[in-house]
Amino acid sequence: MKLDLHNHTWYSVDCVTSPKAFISRSKKQGVVLASTDHGNANSWGVLEREAKRQDWMFIRGQEQRVYWGSSFAGEILGLFLNQPLKKSLVEEVLDEIHDQGGLVAIPHPFDNRNPMASRKFQRLDDILPRVDLIEVFNARIRLMERNDRALEYALQHNKPFSVGSDAHLPWEISNCHLHVDGDSLEDARKNLVKNNGVREVHTTGPVNLFAASVLRFPLFRRFLTRKREPPMGGK
Ligand SMILES: [Fe+2]
Repeated sequence: MKLDLHNHTWYSVDCVTSPKAFISRSKKQGVVLASTDHGNANSWGVLEREAKRQDWMFIRGQEQRVYWGSSFAGEILGLFLNQPLKKSLVEEVLDEIHDQGGLVAIPHPFDNRNPMASRKFQRLDDILPRVDLIEVFNARIRLMERNDRALEYALQHNKPFSVGSDAHLPWEISNCHLHVDGDSLEDARKNLVKNNGVREVHTTGPVNLFAASVLRFPLFRRFLTRKREPPMGGK
């Protein structure tokens, strides 16, 4: 099966993709997506209903900002979760993910685009034994050397791969994917850590990155997400 393990819905502050579009595009492309909104799992309930309606599936995930004490460490993706992540200290988030049988993936580990908005993970070596997957390709990274560095790092440390479109707009969905054996989410979870390789990688154009930065302005965002439902089930 094909997987794209890093995507956002309009429950992220900088994304306008509805859960309906998320599932229908995923099904149309034949690529199972992880929903990894920033700091919340508010999409899960609505996505579940949509997935059921459209006879498709998705991976429950979350992208969490994490800290070493009071200093920003980077972001961690929790994948195959059952419960939303609440913590923010690195070690606590790793526990939170593994305690519920999820996988820890480090997204864009070397994306230090500028000092103010660096997404590079600080002190990655310190947690490496507890990391399940390294995101070796992120379709929103314009400088390929930053993806290449992640790939080299994963190979050097014998870590399984993850890839992510990091889609914030519907047409960015499945800009990249990887293949794993099996046809269920449980197969995917088990086989991901065996590292079956990355295929069919595409990169996002600069226009999309510009559009995503515009979405941060409340007026645009309010217009584009006006049909958004409140989170279901108190998640
Ligand atoms: Fe992301």
